[in-house]
Amino acid sequence: MCGIVAYAGDERAAEIIYSGLEKLEYRGYDSAGITTLCDGSFYTVKRSGRVLGLSQYLGNMCGSTGIGHTRWATHGEASDINAHPHCCNRFAVVHNGIIENYSAVKVELVARGHTFLSQTDSEVVAHLLDEYYDGNLIAAVNKTCARLTGCWALAILCKDYEGFVAVRRGSPVIMARGADGYFAASDIPAVAACAEEYCVLEEGDIALISRSECKIFSDGTTSVSRTFVPVEKEQTDGLGEDCPHYMLREIRSNARTIRATCEKFPLAAGGGLYERLRRADKIVLVGCGTAYNAALSAKRLLCGAYDGFVEAVIASEARYNPPAVTKNSVVIAVSQSGETADTVRAAGILKEAGAYLVAVTNTGYSVITRIADKVLPVCAGVEICVAATKSYTGQLACFHLMASLPDYSCRRRELLRVADEVEKLACDELNSLRIAQLCVSSRAVFFIGRGGDADVATEASLKLKEVSYIFSDGYPAGELKHGTLALIDEDVLSVVIICDQSLAEKSKNAVEQILSRRGKVAVVTTLKSVYDELESRVSAAWLLPPVPAHLSHFVSAEALQLVAYRTAVLAGRDPDKPRNLAKSVTVE
Ligand code: F6R
Repeated sequence: MCGIVAYAGDERAAEIIYSGLEKLEYRGYDSAGITTLCDGSFYTVKRSGRVLGLSQYLGNMCGSTGIGHTRWATHGEASDINAHPHCCNRFAVVHNGIIENYSAVKVELVARGHTFLSQTDSEVVAHLLDEYYDGNLIAAVNKTCARLTGCWALAILCKDYEGFVAVRRGSPVIMARGADGYFAASDIPAVAACAEEYCVLEEGDIALISRSECKIFSDGTTSVSRTFVPVEKEQTDGLGEDCPHYMLREIRSNARTIRATCEKFPLAAGGGLYERLRRADKIVLVGCGTAYNAALSAKRLLCGAYDGFVEAVIASEARYNPPAVTKNSVVIAVSQSGETADTVRAAGILKEAGAYLVAVTNTGYSVITRIADKVLPVCAGVEICVAATKSYTGQLACFHLMASLPDYSCRRRELLRVADEVEKLACDELNSLRIAQLCVSSRAVFFIGRGGDADVATEASLKLKEVSYIFSDGYPAGELKHGTLALIDEDVLSVVIICDQSLAEKSKNAVEQILSRRGKVAVVTTLKSVYDELESRVSAAWLLPPVPAHLSHFVSAEALQLVAYRTAVLAGRDPDKPRNLAKSVTVE
């Protein structure tokens, strides 16, 4: 949710910051901007639209110090004027987060003669810095932060300082160094190409960074050192003709993610985790969006494995209405990014209430890992497409292993076998395209299933709607007759997931109810008997590999990820950057 990059070094800043912003575009892509500092003057370009829109202006931007931003609009529409950086006299600022009291501060500053150009909350930061600056940069930053409420990661340029200031309060900032200079950024991919080492700024840190020095102040005044660790240069395959989007590439990494998660799990799962879970009076799973949908599956798995009461709650609800927990409860925060503000906040509240906090996350240096008592890694690698795919699969793998403690060797073998099926399935074009064609010609698409298939239905619906913009809903098949049947007609498609033999007869009833009302049906099943019976009667039927029911979500979810992807492409959408969305939702 907004990405910031800052650089001070020996090279031209504009190009370095531009490449960093390209890597952070998954965090927001409605507008972008860069300011460089050269001989005491600012050179700024900011445009609505994608980062690419800045490229033609870089040649005119001199200086080897600068800051940049890619935006996901909160306050003020996506426009050139609202794009960051925001400047006021000697200061230029980029901001990730929300300044909650910006309106009151702005009124006060306007009364003191300041003129605001944008509708953003962020612009007040530049004006406050200008107001408080008397030659001492850190003092001005401290005073500014003291006036603000909300959350922020800031990168600041001051015309009097050949470097930049980075500030972390509630939104993530990493600092990095390489042969050619220092960097600050919202996330590591922004600097991975140029930096050798990085450290994560702690809450409240203010860093003063030039090409030759880096000073960090923990509370604005106390100088501290933070530990730098090597930047892992992740090997990611480029996009190519056979894989034109990250979404497809990441779906094709599902199998690798299952295998990698199985490999890392033994190291992470020690330290009394099994005993905690076994003795827990309650296990509470919290997450948002896809992570919450993975938590729904986790609830079924953990319910079958442990005695305590297990519930899955949406983090944005739990933070205002937290479930009761005790010191014997285990809270599991599920988050690909580990940064999602609602999840972090809910997890924090439940931990404060005494629960033991486990983070299931794909991002080892994220906010959630810093507050968790235990971190279980989802080894999906960097997920660039805004829609979560391989991270969901990795979360499921992690929950299977958690549910099989203390001796998970058998489940691990099962998972590795499933990974092989998942790998083959990822190459499918024919079946996914067939169902995608039905989706794209439908007014609405419902995904239904029973038991574990209902959880996959919920996730499949989220995936389809976010990347194709087609209205969609997903829920238990039995609920169809309690209202939604009223919406069924020949322009509506229902995708029925049937992977559990014990529930198949009842799910087939739902198919009959839809067909009797002239609705279109696509069946996705691991069961040959169901496929044979329905294939000639429905608009499409896809026979998936025959994996056991408790593992079928790996193949059914992947099949429907492919359907969502192909529907988006048929509908002419960009599946990697759906409109209005961004990865890492760091605002509440
Ligand atoms: C959907 C999607 C979102 C995220 C949600 C939580 O494809 O990506 O629904 O799952 O914003 O994000 P994390 O897992 O980073 O906490």
